[in-house]
Amino acid sequence: MVDVLLGLQWGDEGKGKIVDVLAPQYQVVARFQGGPNAGHTLEFDGYKHVLHQIPSGIFRADIKNIIGNGVVLDPIVFRKEIDGLGKYNLDLSRNLFISKKASIILPTHRLLDAAYEQAKGEAKIGSTLRGIGPAYQDKVARQGLRVGDILSPNFQAKYRKLTEAHKTILEHHQFDYQSTLPQAEEEFFAAVEFMKQFRLVESEYEINRALDTQQKVLAEGAQGSLLDIDFGSYPFVTSSNTMTAGACTGLGIAPRQIGEVFGIFKAYCTRVGSGPFPTELSDETGERMRQEGREFGATTGRPRRCGWLDLPALKYAIMINGVTQLIMMKVDVLNIFDTIRICTHYELPDGTLTEQLPYDLCDTAVKPVYKEFKGWKTGLADFHTYEEVPAELAAYIDFLEEALGLPISFISTGPDREAIIHREAVV
Ligand code: GDP
Ligand code: IMO
Ligand code: MG
Repeated sequence: MVDVLLGLQWGDEGKGKIVDVLAPQYQVVARFQGGPNAGHTLEFDGYKHVLHQIPSGIFRADIKNIIGNGVVLDPIVFRKEIDGLGKYNLDLSRNLFISKKASIILPTHRLLDAAYEQAKGEAKIGSTLRGIGPAYQDKVARQGLRVGDILSPNFQAKYRKLTEAHKTILEHHQFDYQSTLPQAEEEFFAAVEFMKQFRLVESEYEINRALDTQQKVLAEGAQGSLLDIDFGSYPFVTSSNTMTAGACTGLGIAPRQIGEVFGIFKAYCTRVGSGPFPTELSDETGERMRQEGREFGATTGRPRRCGWLDLPALKYAIMINGVTQLIMMKVDVLNIFDTIRICTHYELPDGTLTEQLPYDLCDTAVKPVYKEFKGWKTGLADFHTYEEVPAELAAYIDFLEEALGLPISFISTGPDREAIIHREAVV
């Protein structure tokens, strides 16, 4: 079976931590979409490590970590990530596999990302500027380069052809590339050579063979459901399918292989970059959440926008993903509040209440309707079972399980691997 673990909000829900926690129960961990726009943080044994493209099972022994075909991979970032893992003494040549069908992010993709954002001005997406959108654009336009191409004698020629086209676009946007591109290309080709020492594979075979021999696979999502290219708050989204269905196309597995779908959400909401955010708090409460939750981007360092939990959006994400179990993160961040709010409905401009997300959240001014809960106002570090948690937190959890119609299997109470309350056998 393939279990899928993904974010139900706008990313940064804590996916890296939970993949690391669950990984020992799997033989394979695989990333199926996204690229270096992701920043997945793991904390254990006093270390804090942020992964961007490498799956979060990498720190656990004897697990195959696969970068799937749905990923857009930047060789320069990959090389830096590998260098950063040097101190952990991991057997990467044995445990890390890269799909030959994964797309490659070129230095010009990053420049194009910046040029397009600049051209959008005020309407910019707030992209991470890692070249994600332009790389997926080339994939869909059937002109992109793939990891397997680096082994071809024609790689240089293919590279030149594509980058010439990119340069024409950059010139059209009057975007300077001459001053940075030569150095970036040098780094790029060195990183491409570096990548050749890793296992470049047809990962769909690796994964399906693993399934044939009853091994368990965990598919690790990046970004979040509300950033999904089809169902997110378009156009303020990323360029891939971040939802469960993306695991099928991004790894080459059949829908009937999907087992559990773990949906991860924070006990509140955050968003980096532009786009609608109905429960956003632009006041002191939001600032307190940001400071308490250390809500600054793991990839770009940008302050994350913060707000209360949004049930209409969460229910939508649960629906499109077929979530079977919920995992609630960063509950400890709410320790400081006297009163905690949850948005249960949206009030539409004509005064009607709805639980449904409007077609275009950008153009529809929805007003969140809140239910209030008494805060528990106590640290959670010493609680390791659900039976011990403060009554106010239990009431908050009970309400959510009832409203969402799903069990909350894990409650995360801090960044460390060990800071977790596990409620029942999950897999
Ligand atoms: P991801 O992109 O979904 O993997 O999440 P990020 O790593 O970008 O952001 C999550 C942040 O919250 C990281 O800094 C984690 O170390 C931290 N974190 C994870 N779980 C918890 C938790 O339960 N409590 C607190 N306070 N921090 C957490
Ligand atoms: P993880 O995996 C949070 C956001 C960007 C921007 C939009 C498009 O760590 O949860 P892109 O670079 O993809 O073109 O940016 O999506 N974004 C993320 N926000 N967490 C992420 O990844 C994100 N990846 C992209 O801020 O608003
Ligand atoms: Mg992140």
